[in-house]
Order: sequence, then structure tokens, then C-alpha cells
Amino acid sequence: MLSILVLHGPNLNLLGKREPGVYGTATLDEIDCSLKQEAARLQVAVATLQSNHEGALVDAIHAALETHQGILINAGAYTHTSVAIRDAITAVNLPTIEVHLSNIYRREAFRHHSYIAPVAVGQISGFGPDSYRLGLLALVNYLNQS
Ligand code: DQA
Repeated sequence: MLSILVLHGPNLNLLGKREPGVYGTATLDEIDCSLKQEAARLQVAVATLQSNHEGALVDAIHAALETHQGILINAGAYTHTSVAIRDAITAVNLPTIEVHLSNIYRREAFRHHSYIAPVAVGQISGFGPDSYRLGLLALVNYLNQS
């Protein structure tokens, strides 16, 4: 069975109470729960991890090499700053899909650039919690075709 690592970056643990006008009211637990339902429907396994620490996300990407076939990542603010996370994705060479709850291109200019996008299979941005569900579906379809 395919196994997917879902990574959530900094401040996403506060979903539900964090800027609900931008990020909605769903909590991270609710998002993870709906991802697990979608995974069951797609007959794949998912493991989820949230961290506020760049190095912990890098470590999790390295560890994925042993266990997972693909990565779904919302790197939060690290999307716009982290060469280390981008390099980790390149290093393990696992198919990766980048997701964002908000449409980063409708927001401040500093959010328009992603270090991850050039090393990802693709990016889904702006559909709230659905971005994750659509990202998982896209990743599973991609893995099943390759
Ligand atoms: C985010 C967008 C980022 O710009 C921001 O720093 C986040 C969340 C999103 O899911 O919309 O923390 O990745």
C-alpha cells in the first residue's frame, strides 16, 4: 500500500483560531481526520506531522525516504524562506506536492515566491482544507501513474 507523509509547518497547529478570515475555522485535527478518510477511500496510508521547527521538518523529510513514497507539504511561512526544506525535498527525491489553505498569490508580495514550488510536482493553493484533499488525490494519481 502506498504511504504518504503529510507535513504541516509553523503556526498551523493554531488553525481554527488563527486568522479565521484567512485560514477558515477548521482545526488541524479536523484537516488530518478528513485526510485520513480520503486516504482510506484512495486505499493509501497517511502519516501526519506538524512542527514549528525548520530542522524537525527537514529531519522528517529525510526519514520519509525509508517509509513513504510521497510527501504532501504545507510548509507555512517556511515556504517563502527555507532553502533547507527545499534542499531536503531535492535530496530525498520523493514526489512532493505543495499545498496552501489560502491563495498565496492574492496576498502580500512576500508570499508570492515559494522555494518549494520548483522542486514539487505541483502546487494547490486557495481552497482551504480542500487544498489538502485535492493535493492527496493528485499525489496518489501521480504515484499510481509513475
Ligand atoms: C500558508 C500560507 C503562508 O504564506 C503562511 O505563512 C502560512 C499558511 C497557507 O496554508 O495558506 O502559514 O501556507
